Amino acid sequence: MADHNALMEAAQQSRESAHAPYSNFRVGAALRANSGRIFGGCNVENSTYGLTVCAERVAIFKAISEGERGFDAIAVVADTETLTPPCGACRQLIWEFCGDVPVILSNLKGKTETIQMRDLFPRPFDSSNL
Ligand code: THU
Repeated sequence: MADHNALMEAAQQSRESAHAPYSNFRVGAALRANSGRIFGGCNVENSTYGLTVCAERVAIFKAISEGERGFDAIAVVADTETLTPPCGACRQLIWEFCGDVPVILSNLKGKTETIQMRDLFPRPFDSSNL
């Protein structure tokens, strides 16, 4: 889909900025706000390992800190044969801010798959449980 292509390209471009000297596993993400703006993020690792932040959360926090609310899709790209899905922590954050959006996974060879958040993250805990 054309609008998914723009997101995947943004994710790929952000991946170029990944700071991943410890794992050498470079990830890019991009999400599109309802305003049309696209926010990219890359994984940012740390020598303490545990302070590492995933590409998806970097993209989300950039958008939220710029005042954006409401998103319609998120893309994730890594250089892997098996497409890389968001980790559990990122799924919780994507659900919080994006809800049941399509998650577009891709690799550098052009393989892609789109999964809805409700399938990737069934029975979430969210504000409706409070
Ligand atoms: N990583 C992401 O940035 N996003 C994912 O969806 C999976 C994992 C990062 C975290 C860490 O820097 C590296 O990939 C290896 O886990």
